Amino acid sequence: MPKIRICIIGSGNWGSAIAKIIGINVKKFEDKFEEEVMMYVYEEMIEGKKLTDIINETHENVKYLPGHKLSPNIIAVPDVVEAAKNADILIFVVPHQFVPGLCTALLGKIKSSAVSLSLIKGFTQENDTKLKLISKFIEEKLKIPCSVLMGANLSNEVASDYFCETTIGCKDKIMGAIMKDCIQTENFRVRVVEEIEAVEICGALKNIVACAAGFVDGLDLGDNTKAAVIRLGLMEIVNYVKLFYGKFNMSIFFESCGIADLITTCYGGRNRRVCEQFVKTGKTIKELEDELLNGQKLQGPLTAEEVYGMLKDSNSTAKFPLFATVHRICNKELKPNDLIEQIRNHPEYE
Ligand code: NAD
Ligand code: 13P
Repeated sequence: MPKIRICIIGSGNWGSAIAKIIGINVKKFEDKFEEEVMMYVYEEMIEGKKLTDIINETHENVKYLPGHKLSPNIIAVPDVVEAAKNADILIFVVPHQFVPGLCTALLGKIKSSAVSLSLIKGFTQENDTKLKLISKFIEEKLKIPCSVLMGANLSNEVASDYFCETTIGCKDKIMGAIMKDCIQTENFRVRVVEEIEAVEICGALKNIVACAAGFVDGLDLGDNTKAAVIRLGLMEIVNYVKLFYGKFNMSIFFESCGIADLITTCYGGRNRRVCEQFVKTGKTIKELEDELLNGQKLQGPLTAEEVYGMLKDSNSTAKFPLFATVHRICNKELKPNDLIEQIRNHPEYE
């Protein structure tokens, strides 16, 4: 059997952390996986040197995951087509806004037998008002199957090898087991489930709830309020899956991709941090993203905007007051102080 070649498309904070794991796991399962793993890196100059050269020479992504060594079999490649052309498994892990451009570049340039795994938390825009799951977008655009991986996985903690869990959504049992071998470690425990859509939607929508948690922190409203916001957020995630995707298995929300990711993001994530500062400084989200994240990208405010468009179009904003309010606060239509007024009469209390 030929060995499976893996390509990681993305090398930000999460892309680099997962590369650290995969670099080790392909060597552990050397009978199954090709040792060299290509990692597409969006090229940029760091103090006069290309980031790809720095990664290939020092085995560290000094910009997006400083302080963590990647194994030397992770090869940084600045051209996405070159990185992906021989791969059997494509692992997508870029901020969601860059997916359409990358897929266009890859169209017709990858193995027709390839499969993919998306670690991306967000949606793409199907048209002005309708959203599409990233996994569906990849499947339709590249004509390859796409599974997903979502969980309570703050990258720096995963890279530090602190114990945590994640959820893979994959319909194919054999491929699910291969993906698990590629990802799981002693301290990064993987559960594979079949419901791709619900897993992915949990990952995308929790970023909106994290923004609300950040507003609560910025307003110094305390832990009870934050818990209420997290619970209302969870209910809106459940109802969103119900309304737009129909049948689903409630147990998904008790996986790492569900309640656990909500908790970790609402306490330790970038969306929370930036939204807390949004309240405290009065600066715009964009200004704070640039100032605080050193090139890393926020997913929550953009996802809130995209989801708001979809809710408006389907006359459903009243059913999702938390999601709608996050967007209206981010774009300064409402003040952070208005948050509680907007959720006080949540449909949960009817
Ligand atoms: P990041 O925000 O740390 O980094 C941004 C990345 O985008 C960098 O690699 C940068 O080079 C790249 N980039 C900038 N402009 C680009 C362009 N025009 N085209 C292509 N790439 C460009 O990225 P991340 O944290 O790895 O996030 C990727 C996905 O993983 C997101 O959907 C995020 O929600 C998800 N995620 C992140 C974490 C985390 O803790 N960081 C954990 C789980 C999931
Ligand atoms: P942030 O993007 O808010 O940092 O969330 C990271 C994450 O998805 C943890 O699971």
